[in-house]
Amino acid sequence: MTGGRVTLTVNGQHHSAEIEYRTPLSDLLRHHLGLTGTHVGCEQGVCGACTVLVDGSPVRSCLMLAVQSDGCRVETVEGLADEVTLGGLQEALMTEHGLQCGFCTPGVLMSLTHAEREGLSAAETTERVLPGHLCRCTGYNGIRAAIERHWARTRQEAAE
Ligand code: FES
Ligand code: FES
Repeated sequence: MTGGRVTLTVNGQHHSAEIEYRTPLSDLLRHHLGLTGTHVGCEQGVCGACTVLVDGSPVRSCLMLAVQSDGCRVETVEGLADEVTLGGLQEALMTEHGLQCGFCTPGVLMSLTHAEREGLSAAETTERVLPGHLCRCTGYNGIRAAIERHWARTRQEAAE
């Protein structure tokens, strides 16, 4: 027996797939469910491009076996926007040129989403999230500026 069925929710939708036990969660998302927003770079837990949220916590989906996500609630970058409107973090990254090729961006967005939910400040988010994501393009300045912008906007909205 080399495989079995895994059942999970992804971005609120119920999914079930027959997979080999060795299949990483990133492959389940990309190849079985067609959710190619999650990128795969190093495949060894270093670059952060494959980061998704599993039961609310960020994980490197290249390192987690898909069978470990059985019964879990998975969130990917596809869940951050609807068909017409980008999410707030996506808007901020776009406005501040926090991405160029965009390869690292889905993982960065999922880690930022988690940091925001945890109530981290902009400074704490920058300090804790950015070291876990390799970005070859931006020099991180645009990402830092996007964090500042998004956190300032949500602070302002909360005060109104
Ligand atoms: S592809 Fe998973 S950490 Fe790089
Ligand atoms: S935008 Fe290209 S790697 Fe980050």
